[in-house]
Amino acid sequence: MKVYITRRIPESGIKLLREAGHEVAVSDKDGVLTKQELVGALKEHNPDAVIPLLTDTIDAEVFDSAPQAKVFASYSVGFNHINLDDAKSRGVIITNTPGVLTDTVAEYAVSMICAMTKRIVEGDQFTKKGEYKGWAPMLLLGADLKGKTLGVLGAGRIGSRVSEIMSKGFDMNIVYYDIKENEFLNTQVNAEFRSTPEDVLKEADVVTVHVPLLDSTRHLLNADRLAMMKPSAYLVNTSRGPVIDEQALVDVLKSNKIKGAALDVYEDEPNLAPGLAELDNVILTPHIASATQETREKMSEMAAKNVIAVLSGGEPINKVE
Ligand code: GLV
Repeated sequence: MKVYITRRIPESGIKLLREAGHEVAVSDKDGVLTKQELVGALKEHNPDAVIPLLTDTIDAEVFDSAPQAKVFASYSVGFNHINLDDAKSRGVIITNTPGVLTDTVAEYAVSMICAMTKRIVEGDQFTKKGEYKGWAPMLLLGADLKGKTLGVLGAGRIGSRVSEIMSKGFDMNIVYYDIKENEFLNTQVNAEFRSTPEDVLKEADVVTVHVPLLDSTRHLLNADRLAMMKPSAYLVNTSRGPVIDEQALVDVLKSNKIKGAALDVYEDEPNLAPGLAELDNVILTPHIASATQETREKMSEMAAKNVIAVLSGGEPINKVE
């Protein structure tokens, strides 16, 4: 059967699809397909399955241009780019790639926490610019993590792993907010549940965000909530941009109401809120938290396995509902 992939991904999954006897077409555009290009490509290929990326908006118009497609197996763990109601009403199965990127994204969030509190990016720029004239007692002073409080918003797979690393590896105290308590965090990580995001924001020295993007989490960190953070606190976001009101964050950072932020995701990717890139107290990276060779190959294989399962009449492994 025919599988269409909306952009080049690692070969490992494509190989599995071909070994299973499927015909695979991959968009040859070096970039995200526009809606019109995506619709055109689907009409041309009339695939039985599609592997889209998180940069593709998948809605009724897209589903209707691929009427044969039984499954859209997203090459991502997040699925906010897919209209699940439109999929459901057409009987199209949606899958994602959970689990394989948990450690990778958690390691990245931890790296951002370290890079920010230890001022690694500033130090790198300073040194490369030739500004380092010798050791100095007051040069680029950062902050320690041991004994401080990490506030975790969203205690799913990634939030839990970040909590575990920061508790066991850095001796941080963990407070977390989620819609329900996490038994593993409570019993194995010595983390404390807080029933509101506000409680976490007021208490934390570093806040790390790991909620999925839902109607209920859009602008979870709005101007009012950002104002609750300590002036000495840092904010890290490796989840989805719209969880933070980015313009409000620019204002807070500009007026030094918090110490700093490290962002891997943005409200309107790839655009940045005006003023964000000019700030010194922010680290910005291009949505690469899951971007390791190993994980991207696993994501490719996982998407392929979901397609193979559905096209052979079986149950998908990672169905999203
Ligand atoms: C990355 O952001 C993903 O959802 O896989």
